[in-house]
Parts: sequence; C-alpha cells; structure tokens
Amino acid sequence: MSEPLRILVLHGPNLNLLGTREPEVYGHTTLAEIDQELAELAKARGAQIQALQSNHEGVLIDRIQEARGEIHGILINPGGLTHTSVSLRDALVGVELPIVEVHLSNVQAREAFRHHSYVAGVAVGTVAGFGARSYRLGLEALLDHLSD
Ligand code: DQA
Repeated sequence: MSEPLRILVLHGPNLNLLGTREPEVYGHTTLAEIDQELAELAKARGAQIQALQSNHEGVLIDRIQEARGEIHGILINPGGLTHTSVSLRDALVGVELPIVEVHLSNVQAREAFRHHSYVAGVAVGTVAGFGARSYRLGLEALLDHLSD
C-alpha cells in the first residue's frame, strides 16, 4: 500500500473561539469538531491530517517552514491574516506545496477590507461561505488535486 497523504491543517488567529465567536457569522461548530471531522474524512480517504491553530503569525510561519519534505499539502484558514500578511504568503510560496484556502464566511460578501486575500493568489483554490463545510469541501478538493 502506498504511503498516506499527509495534510497540514492550519487555523489562524481567533479561530480557537469558533462556536462562541460571532455565531451568526461563523456558526456553532467548534474548532475541535471541525478537526475531528477532517480527521475522519482524511482517514476514509487513506490520508492523515495534522492540525494547528495559532493566534501568532510567527508560529504559523514556523510550522509552514517545517512542512517541507514532511507534508503533501496545506489546508489553511488564515483568519484575519488573510487580508494583512505578506509574510504568511511568502512562507506558503517558499514551501512549494499545494495550498487550499478556506473561510467559513463568504468574505466577498462582507466588508471591503476582507475582499483582498494575500493567500488566494498562491493557492490552488479557495472555498468560502459554507460555514464549517468549507473545510470539508476544501480538504476534498486538496486530496483530489493531490491524486490527479
Ligand atoms: C475568516 C474570515 C476573515 O475575514 C476573518 O478575519 C476570520 C475568519 C472566515 O473563516 O470566514 O477570522 O477567515
């Protein structure tokens, strides 16, 4: 049997508060529930996930740098760093892995400052607006992309 695909799932600032943070925007599902669902989906497809949430840009960047040679693809919800972080984008480019960007909310339908993403241009694609389902759809898309 071939080696399982290893996917790094990264959650940016404030996503540790999912379930209680602005539930009208982000829903009631907690981050632990999202990670559990992703782990089950990955397992069903013969893959594995490693999940990390951090409120610190540098912690996310360190983890991305460590992914080279260890991870096959990255699923990332950068949270507010989506709209601000050149450094996060540079790290994602530097590691030369396929990236899928996800957002719970439809960022294009929200405030203008959320319309620009530094990550979108270096991602295979973006899934946004489907609540916790965005993660599942994003993982499916990333695994499909890796198997193509
Ligand atoms: C978010 C959208 C961002 O604009 C926001 O800063 C977040 C969450 C989302 O998943 O919808 O923290 O990434």
